[in-house]
Amino acid sequence: MKALILVGGFGTRLRPLTLTLPKPLVEFANKPMILHQIEALVKAGVTHIVLAVNYRPEVMVAVLEKYEKEFGVKITFSVETEPLGTAGPLALARQVLAQDDSPFFVLNSDVICDFPFEQLRDFHRAHGREGTIVVTKVEEPSKYGVVVTQPGSTRIDRFVEKPKVFVGNRINAGIYILNPSMLDRIELRPTSIEKEVFPPMAADSHLHSFDLEGFWMDVGQPKDFLTGTCLYLSSVAKRQPELLTSSKDASYVNVGNVLVDPTAKIGANCKIGPNVTIGPGVVVGDGVRLQRCVVLSGARVKDHAWVKNSIVGWHSTVGRWARLEGVTVLGDDVNVADEIYINGGSVLPHKSINTCITEPQIIM
Ligand code: GDD
Ligand code: MG
Repeated sequence: MKALILVGGFGTRLRPLTLTLPKPLVEFANKPMILHQIEALVKAGVTHIVLAVNYRPEVMVAVLEKYEKEFGVKITFSVETEPLGTAGPLALARQVLAQDDSPFFVLNSDVICDFPFEQLRDFHRAHGREGTIVVTKVEEPSKYGVVVTQPGSTRIDRFVEKPKVFVGNRINAGIYILNPSMLDRIELRPTSIEKEVFPPMAADSHLHSFDLEGFWMDVGQPKDFLTGTCLYLSSVAKRQPELLTSSKDASYVNVGNVLVDPTAKIGANCKIGPNVTIGPGVVVGDGVRLQRCVVLSGARVKDHAWVKNSIVGWHSTVGRWARLEGVTVLGDDVNVADEIYINGGSVLPHKSINTCITEPQIIM
């Protein structure tokens, strides 16, 4: 089977992290986001993955060559000369996707869940129509594409992208399985699959919905990245608790759902958790308090610092007795001086912060 991942654009909503790495390579739970997807696709029998990109593919090439070998899967880049939206890339990759009659998976690069590819494939084959969209329920559907079906039926009547008025709370999870025949509906030009392709497919009774079980999150912005991390960790705690550090293994673990890379060093008398990920090579000093946060590789959190609801970027330093909260995101190689308080916002790579920031803002 084949799959196409819409890797897309600049990932502006995940700045400052995406100033350093393309969004799919940013580590989510200590693993590049795209690796979560590749692993799940390979497990479901996918042998060829197309990455649809429209900028800087060179940064990704080396990493993905490594994954090709590691997972025995073919990974090719389909590079757009102008952004083709969410449907145009399917037309561009037509040769691969329409190679044979078998259906292919499509996914947005910023969604995380327990990917149900095998069940999705079986469901899709059973109904025999052109497409299946994975759906999940959310409280705020206006940010997403909303799927409307008749009660008791999986056939989609309407697909409304970012509705201004409430039409329902079952939304497009950004994961599809499609038959090659649907490619005849797409021209090679910038096209939105959500606005221009799904509505007519629904009108032709060619779209079905598949309800996702468990958690789901679009982690394309910092606040959701943190929420997604919490949901992912609690799913791991249920499925594979041995991957997490428990309070039995380490006295610093508070409550639970803490993922610490084995190469990280944690000082004495720390209180870490719940919902924390600590990447490779991170050094945490003594008496540090971390909760609901992500500390990326090579970062340093000095003695008695206090970090909550925040992302500490690669190789950044948080000073002694410093305090980060209110969704603070430090880019790569940021230095926060001792005793500094930051109450939200983003700090661009390579900056030094020497005065307190009491209101969320972007520090350039
Ligand atoms: N190759 C390519 N080219 N990819 C693109 C382009 C493009 O021009 N534009 C966007 N993408 C990729 C993005 O990188 C992302 O992986 C995916 O397409 C969706 O784009 P987003 O910008 O993240 O869209 P969204 O989050 O506002 O909405 C989409 O996702 C929701 C679920 O998270 C829609 O599909 C909604 O219907 C859906 O509910
Ligand atoms: Mg998105």
